[in-house]
Amino acid sequence: MLAASYRDCQAWRAEGLPLSTSSNEACKLYDAILTQYVKWRNDETLGGFEGCISAIQAADPNFVMGHVISTGLELVATTSSTRLDERLAGAVKQTVELANSQDISPRERLHVKAMELFSHGNFPKACDVWEDILVDHPTDLLALKFSHDAYFYMGAQTPMRDSVARVLPYWKPHMPFCLKGLYSFGLLETRFYDQAEKVAMEGLALTPDDAWSVHSVAHVCEMKAEVDKGLKFMEGREKDWQVSDVLASHNYWHWALYFIEKVKIIMSFVSQANKNISCSLKSIPVSLCCCVSGVCVKDRWQELLQVTQPHTDDHVTLFNDLHFLMVSLGAKESRTSQRLLEGLQELAKEPGENQQHQLAGTVGVPMCQAMMEYNQGNYNQAVELLYPLRYRMVDIGGSDAQRDLFNQLLIHAAMKSENKHHQKLGRCLLVERDAVRPNSPLTHRLMQRARALHD
Ligand SMILES: [Fe+2]
Repeated sequence: MLAASYRDCQAWRAEGLPLSTSSNEACKLYDAILTQYVKWRNDETLGGFEGCISAIQAADPNFVMGHVISTGLELVATTSSTRLDERLAGAVKQTVELANSQDISPRERLHVKAMELFSHGNFPKACDVWEDILVDHPTDLLALKFSHDAYFYMGAQTPMRDSVARVLPYWKPHMPFCLKGLYSFGLLETRFYDQAEKVAMEGLALTPDDAWSVHSVAHVCEMKAEVDKGLKFMEGREKDWQVSDVLASHNYWHWALYFIEKVKIIMSFVSQANKNISCSLKSIPVSLCCCVSGVCVKDRWQELLQVTQPHTDDHVTLFNDLHFLMVSLGAKESRTSQRLLEGLQELAKEPGENQQHQLAGTVGVPMCQAMMEYNQGNYNQAVELLYPLRYRMVDIGGSDAQRDLFNQLLIHAAMKSENKHHQKLGRCLLVERDAVRPNSPLTHRLMQRARALHD
């Protein structure tokens, strides 16, 4: 039996968010899954995500929103493709059929529609539908969090911020989840760093273990190159955020970035992020940073390849593809690299409604090719491919901090190119970087290296 704090049928009705099931247990399990999702935490006392998803199916196999949240979570994890995974595609189809056979509310019907659109890779239209839900139901946390994640995958920074801003006035203190972490993240991705930190710290004053607010502060310190402050903050609160097991590996990645700035590569941090595919995704950039900085991480690439190689044909997001390619290049697994590139090129020819495949031809494929050229030592070609895209790289999704890897790759390529114009360009890019993020030890090291190489 679930704790009384989780909402039953009547409690959801009282919130103005009725659920079409007569099972109080199913309603409470829906709340329990939603709570774990927004807190990034498997609650082992409930059996974690997996235990609750099994239990909700058993409590009411025909509960449409139970299917929406279970299948939706698998989709937003982006680690399975409905093109290749028949079980996942079947789960989407089953949810749609179930919804069509029942007299559910318009809000629930929109949830089914958004989930189906997302499963086809139509992230923008899925977000439109979630936003439609939020206009009438601003406290629908599932719509808010799904859209937040989908905006993240599109690099849609401003919508990610405004989507939360719009509903904030409707959020009351009695509600079980504080939105400050979500809002703070949108603020920092649109470069309102001071406001983002203030909002995140307000969130932490209310809920010290809110790992998403911790994560926002980590980003602010990263983007402002406040390395010592970031180190102190992450260390001082580790016990609070570590319990959010789904996000902890990513927060360790942020912690590791400060060490990279300070040239203290501590591989134990990297090993924290090696538990599964989504965790490994977070540690790939650390390995590449080490690599371009001249640190040997050969064994690490082989470890990561074991996790990423089975996903070579997935092509769920460009962000994932680029990270999988980093691994196959780092591991010198050229057949896998080629296969990934050719698969993406093929999908780009007929992308249909899939937004990521629509972007593949103009952004994803040239970025993959640039990485392959860099890997071959063809720095000139890497610059020619990457430089025209530098203001479009945001479209691959992720955060500014994550995408900085590709800015660094462009700078390294420009510095190593034989082309004098590229060498000058590399210095210009470093000056730009220093202007946006002053006092970064990494930028200053690169400036010194550029001077040593070309003066
Ligand atoms: Fe992050």
